[in-house]
Amino acid sequence: MASQQENDKQLAAQAAVALLADGMTVGLGTGSTATAALHAIAARKLSITGVPTSRQTAELAMALGIPLADINEVPHIDITLDGADEFTVSLDLIKGGGGALLHEKIVAVRSRQLVIMTDASKLVERLGKFRVPVEVIPFAVRYVQEQIAGMGAACTVRPDVVTDEGNLIVDADFGLVESPSALGARLKSITGVVEHGIFAGIATLVFMGDNGTVRRFPQ
Ligand code: A5P
Repeated sequence: MASQQENDKQLAAQAAVALLADGMTVGLGTGSTATAALHAIAARKLSITGVPTSRQTAELAMALGIPLADINEVPHIDITLDGADEFTVSLDLIKGGGGALLHEKIVAVRSRQLVIMTDASKLVERLGKFRVPVEVIPFAVRYVQEQIAGMGAACTVRPDVVTDEGNLIVDADFGLVESPSALGARLKSITGVVEHGIFAGIATLVFMGDNGTVRRFPQ
């Protein structure tokens, strides 16, 4: 039997998929909630073109018969549906728990709308309980760790993870984050950092499954 949390993820995914219409180009996120959305898209037999954010998502979409396009071959992306590891009511996010943050962010910033689907465990007052994933070029990993340690954060290289771009993920504990955009800018300025999992000011809407109902942010 599915847990309440899984049910809530499915409800959020269904609410997001209800926004889709035939003919749309849709960014397809990565993770368990994005997987629920892929199944909901297939169940609705929607005629969309998907732009996947990971190999894992591309494989599932193909298995479900959802046509895909390369991000560089579509003129625009109407909407992207993705999950998150944390979000605040101001729609700042931490993403990258599944290691796909780089492609997720590129697809998100190219999209007219970024719709996030979560269960209630992901809503936080301030970001930072979930460690911030940072995608790093392997050659720079020691330097980046030293720089992050110099910012006062403990960090570890995620074991056995190589991203779709051949990079490593460093998970960094900054504690509760006062300014997501300032922390993001500081991380981005470290040589060897390709991208980080702070999505500040990118999401446009969140659907959160909450004990059998769906809440939306902003309301
Ligand atoms: C993938 O890299 C992540 O950004 C996921 O979107 C995030 O970890 C949420 O995953 P779930 O939907 O599995 O909770």
